Amino acid sequence: MSSLNFAHRGFSGQFPENTMLAFEKAVEAGADGIELDVQLTSDGEVVIFHDDTLERLTNGKGTLTEFTLSELQKLSVHSQKNAEIQDQNIPTLREYLSWVSNTGIVTNIELKTASGDPTGLEQKVLELLEQFDIKEKIIISSFYVENMIRVKQLESDVQTGLLTIDCSEKTIQKAVDIGMDYFHPVASQLNETVIEQIHQFGLKINMWTINEESDLEKAEAAKLYGIITDYPDRLKKIQGNLST
Ligand code: G3P
Ligand code: MG
Repeated sequence: MSSLNFAHRGFSGQFPENTMLAFEKAVEAGADGIELDVQLTSDGEVVIFHDDTLERLTNGKGTLTEFTLSELQKLSVHSQKNAEIQDQNIPTLREYLSWVSNTGIVTNIELKTASGDPTGLEQKVLELLEQFDIKEKIIISSFYVENMIRVKQLESDVQTGLLTIDCSEKTIQKAVDIGMDYFHPVASQLNETVIEQIHQFGLKINMWTINEESDLEKAEAAKLYGIITDYPDRLKKIQGNLST
């Protein structure tokens, strides 16, 4: 069976990352899943955005969490790949869920917080999942153990994954101890020994971010649960070639 093809920040290899356009284009390119990043605005709304600050991705300046939703919605998101693409905005998680609930897409929601300290983000995300009755199609992840413990305390049966650049036995064991279903290691950890060890601990693997065709081929051969890529079209092609 093929790995799930997760589009990283949507089809971010060609379209402005974490925008509705990038999500729609990911589905058109054949993605099975979408990875996206969420943060809280100063007035407690959940928005989809990767960076702490606005400069790289928008015409705004400053720290995202210091702005209200209505201030953020006035900004334009730049396209890093194609200057002709304009008029994209920062989406809310609510807007995304309203769209994705009509597709079969699996969503990996990455909690982006500046530390593992409590902000209320976990609670707000879980409330939205409840409203859209979409929990079964969601995997929540974070680099912070504290965030993931809070998610599990609030909602024990939502699927979760620990993000990490470290695949030591200690970290894998930690993921198991805090009840994770998945382990989300960085792409540089793609080797048979590491993959086998994580599987022995009973965790499914979603690896990020794999973009080059030769690496995507290696990842597909490693029988991961999911591959997170900026180029869902490339992975789709490789998976299509393997099945013919
Ligand atoms: O969830 C995988 C990956 O997105 C983690 O890193 O910085 O791209 O959000 P980043
Ligand atoms: Mg991410």
